[in-house]
Amino acid sequence: MFVLKLITEALLASPLITHEKSDSRPVVFWHGMGDTYNSSAMQRVFSALHSVKPELSIYSVYIDEDQSKDQQASLIGNVNEQVEIVCDQLNSIIELQDQKFDFIGFSQGGIFARAAIERCGLNVNNLITFGSPHSGVSDLPRCSDSDWFCKQKNALLKRQVWKKNIQNSIVSAQYFRDPLDYESYLENSAFLVDVNNELPNEKNETYIENLESLNKLVLIMFGQDETVVPKESAWFYDQDKQTGDTINFPNTEYYTKDLLGLKKLFDERKIDYLTIDDVHMAIGDDFLKKVTETYLGH
Ligand SMILES: *[C@@H]1O[C@H](CO)[C@@H](O)[C@H](O)[C@H]1NC(C)=O
Ligand SMILES: *[C@@H]1O[C@H](CO)[C@@H](O)[C@H](O)[C@H]1NC(C)=O
Repeated sequence: MFVLKLITEALLASPLITHEKSDSRPVVFWHGMGDTYNSSAMQRVFSALHSVKPELSIYSVYIDEDQSKDQQASLIGNVNEQVEIVCDQLNSIIELQDQKFDFIGFSQGGIFARAAIERCGLNVNNLITFGSPHSGVSDLPRCSDSDWFCKQKNALLKRQVWKKNIQNSIVSAQYFRDPLDYESYLENSAFLVDVNNELPNEKNETYIENLESLNKLVLIMFGQDETVVPKESAWFYDQDKQTGDTINFPNTEYYTKDLLGLKKLFDERKIDYLTIDDVHMAIGDDFLKKVTETYLGH
């Protein structure tokens, strides 16, 4: 087994952000890998939103109310089960039933948020994802040249990525997708191949209907991302299955075969492509405020 680095930080408990009653659309977050639903990093984000729109109700989903277990679940667990847990959680929040809400996913959390919308038909207005590898990662986060241990670990995980027990337990393996080894992905992916509707005879029309009903899909890419490989996966771009060259969205099968309902969104100009010219998940307050003004609340 390879080694996972766990980041420990001050842990705080309590499932829901305090909020005032208002008729502004609520916002729901799904945090990224190694983070927790109410970490200090997440709280900084909530504050940036509230500095622009104090009336926003903010919810942050969790797999476990205990923050260290929640963090662990972002690394180890079965994503299909996690999506189901979050669907149940969101369906139990009354405020999210009688009005639409906006859903923000950080990194892998953005794919999982999309999966929840596809599968559970949540009442979502805008889906906003930051550096989320929607068309998978074809490589593991790059190691620095001198980091021998990291390289060994990556090589080991890559050899094992399609094993059933890895697909069912290592979160990052569940969105691994190497277009140069596409057959292995089609055969063995336990999660992404389904939510991306890529199985030739098992296209799920519900997923298409649910994504088509979004008001906006906002895809944010980090210009200097070396964690998500290739970084353009955040824009739902693909790679050529022979050459590995980048394919822009209208030339991908997601568009040409309309696998997911994104063709309609794209044609109606409902997909916004934004860039943050920085490394993975380096999000400044100004950017968060801009997102709040443009896409959140009323
Ligand atoms: C996060 O922690 C803060 C400070 O302890 C608390 O006020 C807030 O309600 C918590 N939010 C969530 C989502 O748990
Ligand atoms: C499509 O997805 C929905 C929602 O997850 C599920 O209820 C349904 O069984 C799926 N249909 C097929 C054909 O797999």
